[in-house]
Amino acid sequence: MTTPDVEFRPLALPESVDSPDAGDLLEMVHVRNLVYREITGHDDDAMPADELLPHLRSSEYETRKMWIVLEHGRVIGRVGVDLPLEEGSKVAFWLIELLREAWGRGIGSAAYEIVESYARENGRSVLQSWAQHPTADGPRLTPPTGFGEIPEDHAARFYLRHGYSLEQIERESAFDLLAGFGAVESLLAQAEAASSDYRVLQWFAPTPAEYADGYAWMKSRMATDAPAAAMEFDEETWDAARIAEHDARYTDVGQTLQVTAAQHIATGELCAFNELVVGKDRTTASHQEDTLVLKDHRGHKLGTLVKCAGLISWRALVPDSPRVITYNAEENRPMLDINEAIGFAPIAYNGAWKKVLS
Ligand SMILES: CC(C)(COP(=O)(O)OP(=O)(O)OC[C@H]1O[C@@H](n2cnc3c(N)ncnc32)[C@H](O)[C@@H]1OP(=O)(O)O)[C@@H](O)C(=O)NCCC(=O)NCCS
Repeated sequence: MTTPDVEFRPLALPESVDSPDAGDLLEMVHVRNLVYREITGHDDDAMPADELLPHLRSSEYETRKMWIVLEHGRVIGRVGVDLPLEEGSKVAFWLIELLREAWGRGIGSAAYEIVESYARENGRSVLQSWAQHPTADGPRLTPPTGFGEIPEDHAARFYLRHGYSLEQIERESAFDLLAGFGAVESLLAQAEAASSDYRVLQWFAPTPAEYADGYAWMKSRMATDAPAAAMEFDEETWDAARIAEHDARYTDVGQTLQVTAAQHIATGELCAFNELVVGKDRTTASHQEDTLVLKDHRGHKLGTLVKCAGLISWRALVPDSPRVITYNAEENRPMLDINEAIGFAPIAYNGAWKKVLS
């Protein structure tokens, strides 16, 4: 603890946002949304408390721990650590987010001590974290992948000072849902012509029982098949029960999750998928979550197929959502080629940071 006026208080999650003990949660979410606005200049990452709550809860697959940071009793930030519960996991994922007025006074460093000791106590040695690094002049940092760069800003210096290395750059892109869909429609036609052995399937969470096993297998490949540079992810085991738990985090609070998949007609195997999500307020930005084509089925334009088919039905479903936000590794040329052709344009760059504890 840096000063007697600063407190790190474990966040106890209430049953619901209407519970009498929901005060800390509500303050945390308010500050979270302000922090993102200060960094990005927009509210596309804002979440209402009731929709965020299920994503904060621990499950049999992951322990999620959070502290609120208070100064003179007022919430000024939060600290979070996620511990995946895969067998033998060594990794921990963390965040520290402070209002700008609180930066540069050692509060982040004090929060970081909590992160590192919590990770050590739980036997984790590979600590990883992401931050947005808004465009700025001055010295730059590049990761070992050789793709992308970020300014050596306050957050970057914070990571370096605490022994982290920059491993990967992630590009955040936006697609304007209110502009023309000409490119999407012609790309979809080309992809359909190149994928005659496949059909497009679509559903909304909760996933229909007939697709749960196929979807679970594809979700399990997400952790191993997406380009991760030197960032480390556990091999994940997914089954129908884990899909149900995953889906409920969206459906329980009125979020809409659309899954567009490609099915190999001859075998019935699900081979590619794309996810789009919007909150209860469908006038807010949509988020593209996972997209993947299984390795054995690459080269048939299935990535373009599921993305374009997904966007076309999405526009009809949420005509007032202004854009779709997506994140891709800067070295993931095959995926960036598809996104750029569709009309996604870069809006920001994130650094992926890692430290291995001795
Ligand atoms: C990144 C972040 C967590 C850093 O927190 P912080 O409280 O500003 O960090 P600290 O004050 O501990 O350290 C930052 C600087 O303040 C200096 N400092 C540390 N203690 C200090 C003190 N008591 N008084 C004055 N300065 C101090 C440090 O030397 C450091 O200087 P440097 O930039 O030259 O290396 C904070 O800026 C933030 O919330 N950013 C937005 C979210 C984000 O990007 N998070 C990244 C992790 S997810």
